[in-house]
Amino acid sequence: MNTFVPRVFSGMQPTGNLHLGNYLGAMVNWIRMQETHDCIYCIVDMHAITVFQEPKDLIRSTREVTAAYLACGLDPKRSIIFNQSRVAMHAELSWVFNCVARLGWMDRMTQFKEKAGKDKERASLGLYAYPSLMAADILTYKATHVPVGEDQKQHLELARDIAAKFNNDYAERIAELGFSGGFFPQPEPMIQGPATRVMSLRDGTKKMSKSDASDLSRINLTDDADSIANKLRKAKTDPEPLPSEAAGLAGRPEADNLIGIHAALSGVGKADVLAEYGGQQFSAFKRALTDLAVAKLSPITGEMQRLVADAAYIDTVLKEGGERAQAIAAPIMDDVKDIVGFLR
Ligand code: TYM
Repeated sequence: MNTFVPRVFSGMQPTGNLHLGNYLGAMVNWIRMQETHDCIYCIVDMHAITVFQEPKDLIRSTREVTAAYLACGLDPKRSIIFNQSRVAMHAELSWVFNCVARLGWMDRMTQFKEKAGKDKERASLGLYAYPSLMAADILTYKATHVPVGEDQKQHLELARDIAAKFNNDYAERIAELGFSGGFFPQPEPMIQGPATRVMSLRDGTKKMSKSDASDLSRINLTDDADSIANKLRKAKTDPEPLPSEAAGLAGRPEADNLIGIHAALSGVGKADVLAEYGGQQFSAFKRALTDLAVAKLSPITGEMQRLVADAAYIDTVLKEGGERAQAIAAPIMDDVKDIVGFLR
């Protein structure tokens, strides 16, 4: 068995503001994992252009998302923070993976179906190949742990399939070159906490998303206290008081969502929140949730504003992060070339 050095990789798309779903579904785990692991956190600008982005918006958004990473508590001294396009190995390895992955696998990807919508013919080839690039992001560092929200689970399974097929297709050559137990690890999805799928505030059956037309559906990390209060006041609920036990949340998606958000923000489980608020009306609970959300998010919002004003600092973080990332990725990509039979 090959033993792979534990390494964390994850990323977010710079296609606009980060929201509470990104924060609770992924970022809180990223911050926690910095304590125990070597971590690489990427701003995936190459993924962003699978849907057209105005170049100036992409530049601004890349810096804003970097500022959000730092403001949330990612430490550039400890973790590697960079934008994807800086490190050419992502693109190089993704081409190899495009030749390993099967069309049938890609056809099953639900996110492509959602994003491409009815008019699949007009979607970019990049949008279709997106999960193959995502596998390359992870495996160009031989990352073993990938903290993400629930919606990325299928992509992670595909990354595992690609790693396994590469190891299998090239097994002889991999052994010949002296790698025992396969070349790539099986990256482990880390989908953890009470808010792995934060739902829209307007519809508890839809995921909270940047692309929702209604800004009332999400809490952005840039929202001030008044807009957080307004959005939570208007958040959809049902007429019943809150249940006292988690089983009572079944069939009540809006209640389940708000309880999950409270639990994740306060770092406890849903049962603990229900023990406190069970039997109460939504109005009182929403006020408590607003206070909690504002207390947690307003320091982040303030710090983001400060950092965004310092583009030179942000650019230095990305440049240094890119150099460190490249130093890990380059020798791995060299090995891939030797395995595949590319002269170098
Ligand atoms: P992206 O940019 O859509 O989202 C970034 C992270 O936030 C999580 N997330 C959510 N979690 C809970 N509830 C929600 N409503 C919610 N919305 C988003 C996502 O699961 C994700 O963890 N394909 C990825 C980016 C990516 C990547 C990677 C991730 C590219 N390469 C390699 C991990 C490893 C994406 O589009 O995430």
